[in-house]
Amino acid sequence: MFGGRSHILKGSVSLALVILILFVVILLVSEKNPLRTSSLFDIKSQFSPSSSVCNFAKGKWVKDRKRPLYSGFECKQWLSTMWACRIMGRPDFSFEGYRWQPQGCNMPHFDRFTFLRRMQNKTIAFIGDSLGRQQFQSLMCMASGGNDSPDVQNVGWEYGLVKAKGALRPDGWAYRFPTTNTTILYYWSASLSDLVPMNNTDPPRLTAMHLDRPPAFMRNYLHRFDVLVLNTGHHWNRGKIEGNHWVMHVNGTRVKGEYLKDIRNAKDFTIHSVVKWLDAQLPFHPRLKAFFRTISPRHFKNGDWNTGGNCNNTVPLSRGGEITDDDGSIDTTVESAVNGTRLKILDITALSELRDEAHISGSKLKPRKPKKASSNVTATPVINDCLHWCLPGVPDTWNELFIAQI
Ligand SMILES: *[C@@H]1O[C@H](CO)[C@@H](O)[C@H](O)[C@H]1NC(C)=O
Ligand SMILES: *[C@@H]1O[C@H](CO)[C@@H](O)[C@H](O)[C@H]1NC(C)=O
Ligand SMILES: *[C@@H]1O[C@H](CO)[C@@H](O)[C@H](O)[C@H]1NC(C)=O
Ligand SMILES: *[C@@H]1O[C@H](CO)[C@@H](O)[C@H](O)[C@H]1NC(C)=O
Ligand SMILES: *[C@@H]1O[C@H](CO)[C@@H](O)[C@H](O)[C@H]1NC(C)=O
Ligand SMILES: *[C@@H]1O[C@H](CO)[C@@H](O)[C@H](O)[C@H]1NC(C)=O
Ligand SMILES: *[C@@H]1O[C@H](CO)[C@@H](O)[C@H](O)[C@H]1NC(C)=O
Repeated sequence: MFGGRSHILKGSVSLALVILILFVVILLVSEKNPLRTSSLFDIKSQFSPSSSVCNFAKGKWVKDRKRPLYSGFECKQWLSTMWACRIMGRPDFSFEGYRWQPQGCNMPHFDRFTFLRRMQNKTIAFIGDSLGRQQFQSLMCMASGGNDSPDVQNVGWEYGLVKAKGALRPDGWAYRFPTTNTTILYYWSASLSDLVPMNNTDPPRLTAMHLDRPPAFMRNYLHRFDVLVLNTGHHWNRGKIEGNHWVMHVNGTRVKGEYLKDIRNAKDFTIHSVVKWLDAQLPFHPRLKAFFRTISPRHFKNGDWNTGGNCNNTVPLSRGGEITDDDGSIDTTVESAVNGTRLKILDITALSELRDEAHISGSKLKPRKPKKASSNVTATPVINDCLHWCLPGVPDTWNELFIAQI
């Protein structure tokens, strides 16, 4: 009899336990759960890093007195003068004082020493166009704090990144922080396709652009990367492709089909190809974290730089400071390409869209020193570039966002 009662007692205790567990589970997954942004939730997300609990693209720009992360007068070792708006004489700098606060995500303040320690013995690679180069320069400045760093080694030769005879510059750069053995590199590949000189003799020399093959550099050095950040976008127009004498190829032969002759389709096809290739490689490189950065928005008004469009707003957050909707990325090409793969999306399009005041447009072009006494100085007075960003600036945020996700 007592046995029966204790059986019933045990039964109700376990029922209560089951109900309690159910309640906790429901609480944790509930949309309205106040714990979602608390440390409890962060612990949960650490256990399931692949679950999409946190969307870094959602959030708001907030004023931060600790910004910028380095001075635009410094970092001369890596920062292109053209992008250093402090040096280029831009008059207003309120755009430097903001950071992105993602909603419900754990994003610690950037600390370069913590970052380098975390990246001990690791290599971070950027492959992409000039916006990728901006992100690379930004990360070099963030990691060095903008300080002169004679100890940082130029290791470009290890990756074949040396200036070819007659070339204006090498195809990329690689630097190593010796204290933590951290390497940060950039390779210029504007289209993320493999470029191979064609054997035609008539000038202009044509280059085969293999849309279904990633750049040789990426294939050759992938095994050495721990973090890879890809981007492309602004070179996918007829002017750039014809100007570079690129000839599209697929399956080793010149593209004939009408479908790929539409440049938007060619871009879409290439992004999907490179993602598919990389996704198939990742199981062989378990330590590699791969990101595809979405397109960086332009803010030319009334056309583009050819038609004199400009972006002369100087007031931060005139377009609003917050992204609240959950509709997914503006860059549907990258979003659909990485969907269901091991690559992560680095979705910076919407948050950068809000920052039309942070482009290098409005900087004054300083007259270059004439090479010869006889040549006249013919400098344009004001830069009209609503594509590239001032540094320090918006690309620093792109870096903080991927660092928070590695
Ligand atoms: C630096 O890191 C690489 C791996 O990324 C490792 O092979 C190498 O031994 C390290 N060098 C030193 C001096 O720690
Ligand atoms: C970095 O590499 C060196 C040399 O291979 C090794 O002694 C050290 O333990 C490594 N450190 C980390 C954090 O991987
Ligand atoms: C171009 O010519 C070189 C030898 O001159 C040859 O090795 C290469 O395969 C040729 N490339 C193509 C695409 O025909
Ligand atoms: C390339 O080859 C694949 C497989 O043989 C084929 O399905 C595809 O249509 C080809 N693409 C082009 C553009 O020729
Ligand atoms: C900004 O550019 C527009 C033309 O796009 C021009 O009408 C306006 O006067 C400019 N504003 C300033 C403050 O320069
Ligand atoms: C991702 O793929 C899944 C399954 O194929 C599909 O249901 C979903 O709509 C896709 N999401 C996006 C954003 O493309
Ligand atoms: C430089 O300017 C002077 C006068 O403005 C003109 O006579 C001369 O032809 C110019 N020289 C060049 C190289 O453009």
